[in-house]
Amino acid sequence: MASVAVIGGTGMNQWPGLVVQKQLLVETPYGAPSAPLLLGKVYGIQAIFLARHGEGHRIPPHGINYRANMWALKQAGVSAVVAIAAVGAIAPWLPPGAVAVPTDVIDYTYGREHTYSDGEHAELKHVEFTEPYSERVRRELLHGALEARVDIAESGVMGVTQGPRLESTAEIKRLKRDGCDMVGMTGMPEASLARELGLDYAGLAVSVNWAAGLGSGDIHGEIHQSIEAGMAKVRAILERALPALRARDEVMDS
Ligand code: HPA
Repeated sequence: MASVAVIGGTGMNQWPGLVVQKQLLVETPYGAPSAPLLLGKVYGIQAIFLARHGEGHRIPPHGINYRANMWALKQAGVSAVVAIAAVGAIAPWLPPGAVAVPTDVIDYTYGREHTYSDGEHAELKHVEFTEPYSERVRRELLHGALEARVDIAESGVMGVTQGPRLESTAEIKRLKRDGCDMVGMTGMPEASLARELGLDYAGLAVSVNWAAGLGSGDIHGEIHQSIEAGMAKVRAILERALPALRARDEVMDS
């Protein structure tokens, strides 16, 4: 059973290194996930990969069926999820190309199907979200970065906006005042749905540009220049962290 999954986003729509053994076409009470779950071997372990934006990167952040995605992973026997997300940097310590393991999140999205407690499918639950991310997964990611000798920001607050447009200068100033260190479009409701399902979920946020009003003024140019360097760091971290996460699961299974 593959108990570890990676959700890849912009810059990681595929997982180089994953030798796919099976494509799992999963149907859920909420519809189909973004793509078939790819079950395969990587770094000597079995893992599942899900392309958040679908095959060919066609699904926009607000159009992703987050409920189906997380449900499908749970149904496939996953217990730990590492979510990779490209973000714009607000904090000065997260230049394009840098990677962070977020510790907290602020949700600015709207109109997304954001809960299983919708009065229809499941009983009402008020899940705790004081600490949105799994400390166990965060720790393994940080340890993996240390072993891979990759510099990493050990904390940070992610603001999640609706997209698909980028933000205005005033919106980024507001996010900064709110305490956001970075901004992305897909971190929510992914994290809270994972919590509702009892999945251990944490993320690697890859800074790919300075957020609006903070950089050179050419956001797409910055993304183009920095994304591959960031994703190379992600792969190096995953190579160390995933086998450790999987080993922990095996101990707990036995
Ligand atoms: N804003 C929101 N989401 C993003 C950004 C950004 O600047 N860069 C990458 N994802």
